[in-house]
Amino acid sequence: MNCFIVSDDVDEFYGEYLISLQNAIDYIINQTHNIGCKCLEEFGRNPIENIRYRIKSPESMSEKLLHHGYDVNAENAVKRVHDAAGVRVITSFLDDVDVVVSLIENIEGIEIIGEKDYINHPKRNGYRSYHIICRVPSDNIGVFVEIQIRTVNMDTWASIEHRMKYKKMIVDEKPIVEELKRCADELAAVDLSLQKLSKILRAMPAENT
Ligand code: GTP
Ligand code: MG
Repeated sequence: MNCFIVSDDVDEFYGEYLISLQNAIDYIINQTHNIGCKCLEEFGRNPIENIRYRIKSPESMSEKLLHHGYDVNAENAVKRVHDAAGVRVITSFLDDVDVVVSLIENIEGIEIIGEKDYINHPKRNGYRSYHIICRVPSDNIGVFVEIQIRTVNMDTWASIEHRMKYKKMIVDEKPIVEELKRCADELAAVDLSLQKLSKILRAMPAENT
């Protein structure tokens, strides 16, 4: 049931493991989609704005394997590294992150390997997100999937910061780093305001039509 279009180099790099990665991602996406639907049914609102996924590019995976001193091959990519398969879940509001995290933690059949809370403990550069590493049984092997859960604002910042830094020779990094951090903190303040507003609106009775 998967609808992946993968480039030839991804296909070539992961070889026989590709299908297991795709199935593991499919499983997480479907389960997360169901979580959103159940919330909609129960609370009248889907906390999930969108769900994205990726398989780590051979270039970036090779770099990571070499960095950790492993041989560059598909088996090490799937067994030694935890983010060959990645799913990103974007929520509307800050408090939706907690709700979605606890529902994801309870997805049937998956094993939680580790979690990182970069929301209550943002990185020094301002990066905010909640990460869950889980193991999903797929085709008789356990496949790791890194699930990142964050708000639209956190996602916007991370995407822009990633693109801005990517392969750039920045001569004087300090003012840029400071400005990016300031933007991250401003967006975090906006997330808090939007959350307060949404709580106020949720507490109001629905209009009779
Ligand atoms: P890698 O960063 O993947 O080597 O793993 P790690 O063990 O350091 O995990 P970490 O949780 O720090 O990062 C995992 C993933 O989170 C990254 O691959 C990115 O997708 C994302 N991420 C972490 N830090 C940043 C950041 O400062 N900026 C952006 N844009 N994304 C980040
Ligand atoms: Mg890192």
